[in-house]
Amino acid sequence: MAEQYPTIEFVGIDPCQEQIDQAKDWATQVKRQNVSFFSERLEVLADSLGTFDYIICHGVYSWIPLNERAALLQSIADCLSEKGALYLSHNSMPGCNARSSVWQMMRTIDNPHAPIEERIQRAREYLQSGEMRVVDAHRPYGMQLREEIERNIARSDSFILHELLNPAADAEWISETISTLQRFGFFYAGDAHPQRNHALSEEVHYSEHTPQEQFDSVESAVQYFDILYPSSFRGSVFVKNGGRALVTPEAKALDGCYVSSPLVSSSVKDEDLSSLRMIPFYGPSEEVIEVKAPAYKYLLVELSQLWPRGILLSSLFERVESRCDISSSEREYLMRELLKLYFRNLLEVHSDELSVANVLPESPVVSPFRRLKAAGDWTITLRGELYKTDALDQLLIPLLDGTQTMDNCKQAVLKAVHAKELRMKGSEGNIEANEIEQLVREAVEERFAQYLDRGLFIADCEPIK
Ligand SMILES: C[S@@+](CC[C@H](N)C(=O)[O-])C[C@H]1O[C@@H](n2cnc3c(N)ncnc32)[C@H](O)[C@@H]1O
Repeated sequence: MAEQYPTIEFVGIDPCQEQIDQAKDWATQVKRQNVSFFSERLEVLADSLGTFDYIICHGVYSWIPLNERAALLQSIADCLSEKGALYLSHNSMPGCNARSSVWQMMRTIDNPHAPIEERIQRAREYLQSGEMRVVDAHRPYGMQLREEIERNIARSDSFILHELLNPAADAEWISETISTLQRFGFFYAGDAHPQRNHALSEEVHYSEHTPQEQFDSVESAVQYFDILYPSSFRGSVFVKNGGRALVTPEAKALDGCYVSSPLVSSSVKDEDLSSLRMIPFYGPSEEVIEVKAPAYKYLLVELSQLWPRGILLSSLFERVESRCDISSSEREYLMRELLKLYFRNLLEVHSDELSVANVLPESPVVSPFRRLKAAGDWTITLRGELYKTDALDQLLIPLLDGTQTMDNCKQAVLKAVHAKELRMKGSEGNIEANEIEQLVREAVEERFAQYLDRGLFIADCEPIK
């Protein structure tokens, strides 16, 4: 975040010294000065930090003892500016039903005073034997529990220790979390996930089956919805004194924003776009939308040609208007359609231009943070998706420091292949040097195309007008 928003100041807090040291080390390596870290409890620092516009409290609330939650919430309330927003992650029921059975199961056997390795080993043994011994494994409860145990057996030691063996971890019903936060002056503004928030606002404000008057409070409406659409872990947004209404996003909220969309079409022919012929646009996860209106088709084609970069909404409309007329009612229709795409995760909305390239630059640059992460096993794309790296990535991505040309990168990989530090499919056995060169060239180019697709390259060109 500090890298993506260089004009914003970030503060990271956790009493765990080791985590803070690691974070400070990263910040130094990627040369970020707009971020500082403190190894302290928030309550201790609250008076000296001033106020913040956004507070992200991730993985803390449901994982600390009940009797520590009030002090934490009070400190968050003190640190949040009057118009600020709090993102709070927490576990919730009934989505957390099976997980909470596993917590209880672990508590029956765990000895918190035993050495850590011993506790983890014992927990694994009990998970395995528990899986075999589930009674009624073909009824809904047994099936759910078995699945949860199976998932947990596959998790890391660190997950078992911090999540399953954490004696404080629990889940509340969301109405309880909302009421608790109300006591500290917070009002529930909605789910941080756009799709969930949209479904929730529809349920609360518009549903024919559950008229608003059926609920006597926002928390009961939200609770009702949560029983029908459960999730074990969630991000909720709270505001101070913001009124009790849930925030329902409106299309005009997109004004002044940068938008991008991964939708692509197999046709960009003008006769298909300018006619009322229906054409499909394909998104990730097999999502397809079928579009008839020419202006909407031009708009999506413009977006797909820019992907993974985004464009200012007003500039996007200017581009579409240069290809076809848009009446004011059509413009409203397009805005509503864009909002719908956002709710389906098919439109990204950003406050700033994303610095990502959409053509392969001569001297490709990967951001220092992504480069640093790639040196481990995973890197992260500009959209926050994890990307598993292999030996070739680990050689390539760190090379991209802005001083390397593509040829230099290929040479470095070739050197590693010759030195047998890197094995490349097809390069084993008796193979001519020029064939190896060809293999390396192709492999590097293919990888660069993938980086481009995933938004790993920083744009080296002017913002899109
Ligand atoms: C489950 S871990 C989550 C770590 C990290 N926030 C994340 O989401 O990946 C819970 C963290 O909360 C921190 N913590 C506990 N009490 C705290 C407090 N009063 N103020 C700030 N952090 C706290 C712990 O040190 C621990 O690192």
